[in-house]
Amino acid sequence: MLPTIEWNDEGVVMIDQRKLPTVEIYVTCKSAKEVAKAIKTMVIRGAPAIGVAAAMGLALGVRQSTETGTTKLAREFYKLCEMMADTRPTAVNLFWAIDRMKRVFAEAASAGQSVDQIKDKLAAEARMIHDEDVASCRAMGEFGASVVPDGARVLTHCNAGALATAGYGTALGVIRGAIGQGKKIAVIADETRPFLQGARLTAWELMRDGIDTTVITDNMSGALMLGGQIDLVVVGADRIAANGDVANKIGTYTVAVLAKEHGIPFYVAAPISTIDLATADGSGIPIEERNAKEVTHMGPARLTPDHAKVRNPAFDVTPHKYVTGIIT
Ligand code: MRU
Repeated sequence: MLPTIEWNDEGVVMIDQRKLPTVEIYVTCKSAKEVAKAIKTMVIRGAPAIGVAAAMGLALGVRQSTETGTTKLAREFYKLCEMMADTRPTAVNLFWAIDRMKRVFAEAASAGQSVDQIKDKLAAEARMIHDEDVASCRAMGEFGASVVPDGARVLTHCNAGALATAGYGTALGVIRGAIGQGKKIAVIADETRPFLQGARLTAWELMRDGIDTTVITDNMSGALMLGGQIDLVVVGADRIAANGDVANKIGTYTVAVLAKEHGIPFYVAAPISTIDLATADGSGIPIEERNAKEVTHMGPARLTPDHAKVRNPAFDVTPHKYVTGIIT
């Protein structure tokens, strides 16, 4: 299985997703600060993977602390939590993972455990978050495969695969699950401007697995749907509000509306850590606005005239009326 992230003696190691598919290199983050930077700059991205990285970063940061008393260690830990929370605002998995680590710290501290015991507890929790994510992706894959007919041509947007999780993937996990059950599946991957997660990452990991993959630009999906060339849509999510509204990569809403118009089922696959019952509906989900350069430039090449105004919301919200089902 593709190793998205692991924590070893050197630090938290992750495949650099900014460089794929042309260069396959691994980045080793040697401190919590480096993990936070890796999340912010999208060395690692995808809601569940962000949560796992944050948990490992916190455990690493606490492990490196020189504090000898629990109170001072707690102060340092909470500062690290703030730094981690300040990386990306939309994926709720980040806050879910931080809260989980805070709970473990608080329980261990109030049970009177030593600094070393607290460090071990946090390390074990981070590893558990990683392993649970892989297990839940596999479970979603097996369970979600039932909505994927044999022979289906499945459109997906962004990358909700092994790279976006601790492994296996959510939307791509459902596709892997269907293939694992012997179904013949063809995947159509939206390129996903501006960061190109579909063209670069989804296509890369599916082709590694020998899965039939066709990349299209984002503006082609309507024509393919009208032409009867897409049977099903499966995407991931960064946050699902209590009423079922879904925040996911910008462009997901457009795909959902098109799918409804053409009578094509539109499924969202996401673990429990993506479901935010504290947010009533999609209007309460914070949408990250990223650097304009992602839109104005392709690598070093400028695409837009100097001083042209640019917007770069990284996510949109699909109202639940467009969602056929949530696989969780
Ligand atoms: O900006 P990104 O690449 O972190 O956005 C990722 C997505 O929108 C994914 O679809 C989502 O996180 C689900 S990943 C299983």
